[in-house]
Amino acid sequence: MAGSTRCLIAGNWKMNGTLQESLSFIHDLGENPAPEYVEVALMPPFTLLHPLAKPFAEKEVCLGAQSMYCEARGAYTGSISPVMLRDAGCHYVILGHSERRDIQHESNTLIRKKMDAAWEYGLEPILCIGEHLDDRECGKTNEVLADQLSVLEGLNAEHPLTVAYEPVWAIGTGKTASVEQVKETHAFVHAELQRLGHDCRVLYGGSVNAGNAEELLACKGVEGALVGGASLKADSFMQIIEAANSAEN
Ligand code: PGA
Repeated sequence: MAGSTRCLIAGNWKMNGTLQESLSFIHDLGENPAPEYVEVALMPPFTLLHPLAKPFAEKEVCLGAQSMYCEARGAYTGSISPVMLRDAGCHYVILGHSERRDIQHESNTLIRKKMDAAWEYGLEPILCIGEHLDDRECGKTNEVLADQLSVLEGLNAEHPLTVAYEPVWAIGTGKTASVEQVKETHAFVHAELQRLGHDCRVLYGGSVNAGNAEELLACKGVEGALVGGASLKADSFMQIIEAANSAEN
């Protein structure tokens, strides 16, 4: 398997968090937030990467970024490179998040370039895929996911990789996919990954919270969660980690 086999609970803070808020969050995480069976990662905004690297490392929380550009350096005003992310202490980088695809119009072609650049500079991409509600209603979910996964075609399967399946209609809406939908879609994603030669970990994301984490993480083929809103408060994030730890042992 390319990448870690441990269940991953990753928190994506999106465009939230000041230095003061993040230091309170770390304080509230307590002494040992990452239990034996679960890997914990957080993706704060770029401005907090450097200041959080050390306090996160002290709590065994892995650092990640929410995005990056596909070049190492140069005249790309406003962009952040994989070299900078490594320099800040990142292990993970989220690529292909639906908010980047929809709001910033990121294409599969650009995402593939970013995957290559992430690997070249030693980062592990968390490749996000997911269908919109109308895709699901028209029965096109698998077609959309296969198209998004096609960025992996021909890429070296030895590189570390995590995939996150996040139905777009479940992100930030409080709606989650049903257990049946999660199982069925994760089975499809795993089969497609296997066909492409990438036998990697697949997370579920979209309104995961302390109340539904246990049920979602118990679904076959779900090997962790990408958590947005519920990762902003240490207590709800820790309850999700705890649910993952119980599901794993
Ligand atoms: P949410 O976000 O948990 O707030 O739905 C998930 C994500 O966008 O990764």
